[in-house]
Amino acid sequence: MTDPLGGATVAVLGFGNQGEAQALNLRDAGVAVIVGARPGGRGEARARAAGFEAFPLAEAARRAGVCAVLLPDEVTPGAWPAIAPALGDTVGLVFAHGFDLLYADLAFPARADVVLVSPTGPGRVLRELARRGEGLPAYLAVHRDGSGRAWELAEGYATGLGCHRARLWRTTVREETEVDLFGEQAVLCGGMNALVTAAFEVLVARGYSPEIAYLECVHQLKYLADLLHERGVAGLRQGISGTALYGDVTRGPRVVGAAARAGMEALLEEIRTGAFARAWAEEVARGRTTLDAAVARAANHPIEEARRRALGTGPGPDGSQGESRKALSKN
Ligand SMILES: NC(=O)c1ccc[n+]([C@@H]2O[C@H](COP(=O)([O-])OP(=O)(O)OC[C@H]3O[C@@H](n4cnc5c(N)ncnc54)[C@H](OP(=O)(O)O)[C@@H]3O)[C@@H](O)[C@H]2O)c1
Repeated sequence: MTDPLGGATVAVLGFGNQGEAQALNLRDAGVAVIVGARPGGRGEARARAAGFEAFPLAEAARRAGVCAVLLPDEVTPGAWPAIAPALGDTVGLVFAHGFDLLYADLAFPARADVVLVSPTGPGRVLRELARRGEGLPAYLAVHRDGSGRAWELAEGYATGLGCHRARLWRTTVREETEVDLFGEQAVLCGGMNALVTAAFEVLVARGYSPEIAYLECVHQLKYLADLLHERGVAGLRQGISGTALYGDVTRGPRVVGAAARAGMEALLEEIRTGAFARAWAEEVARGRTTLDAAVARAANHPIEEARRRALGTGPGPDGSQGESRKALSKN
C-alpha cells in the first residue's frame, strides 16, 4: 500500500486504547510511526515491546510531521503547554475526539492543519477489523485548515487506520463532540447503567432473587444489544416473542417517558453550553475525588455480588457451585 500520508512521520502521543491500535494500523499501512509516552509508563513499555521508538511527548512531537493526540481528553489541556512549543514545523495535528478542540483553549502553530479523525469504536475493534482487511467507520472534521489541504490530511490518516474500507463521514467538531457526549451519557454508559441498576433494585426490593434479577435485567442485555447492532430496532422486534413485543411497544415508552426525555434535553443543554465540560474540568482539578468516591460506592452495590453469584464465580442461588449460569440463563 502507498503511504497515505505522503512520507510524513507520525508521532502517536499516548499509547492507550486508541494510540496502540492506531500506531499498529498506521505502521501496517506503510506509515513511519514513532510514539510519545511518559517515561517509565505502561504505554512506553508496550510501545517498545511492539517495536516502536518511544520518546517523551514533546520530543516525539518535535520529531514528527504529523502528531496524533491520543491522550485522555482530561489530560491533554494540562500536557499541552509542554507539547505546543515542540510542534515547530509540525504541519498536521490529528485528534480522535473533538472534546479538547471544542472546550479547551489549545494553542496551535499558525500554519498547522488540525483535524478530527474519530473511529466509531474502541481501539481493539479498530485493530481487529484492520487485521481482517476490513475497516471501522470514522467521523472526519476539519478544525483548522492552515494549508488548504486539511481534508486530505484527515482522509489520508483515516486511510492509514483502514477506516476508508468502511465509510468516512464528514462532520464538524461540534457535531461529533456533542453527539458523542450525549450518546454516552443518555444511552451507552449513563443511561444503560442507570436503567439496569434501577430495574435490579425494583425487583430485589419486591423480594425477587438478586441472581435472577441480575440475569434477566443485566446479563441478557448483550443478546438483545447484538440483535440491535445487527438488525436495528425493527429487526430486533422480529426476533423476540409476541409477548415480549407487546410489552416492548406498550410498556417501554412508559419507562422512558416524559421525565426521561426532559432529563435528556437537560443534559444535552449542559453539553451544548459547555457546562458539562466545565464541571468535568473542575472535577479533574479537584483530583477526581467525587468521581472516584461514587465509583467506589457503586462497586459495592449488591448488583456486583449478584453477578458473582449468578455467573458461577460463587455459589449459585440454589447453593450449587459454578452451575448457575447454565441453569438459569434462558438464552
Ligand atoms: N477509548 C475509545 O474507545 C475511544 C474511541 C474514540 C475516540 N477516543 C478518543 O481517543 C483519545 C484517547 O483516548 P484513549 O481511550 O485511547 O485513552 P487511554 O486509553 O486512557 O490512553 C491514554 C494514554 O495516555 C497516557 N497518559 C495518561 N495520562 C498521561 C499523562 N498525564 N501524561 C502523559 N501520558 C499520559 C497513558 O500512558 P500510560 O500508559 O503511561 O499510563 C496512555 O498510554 C481521546 O481523545 C478519546 O476521546 C477514544
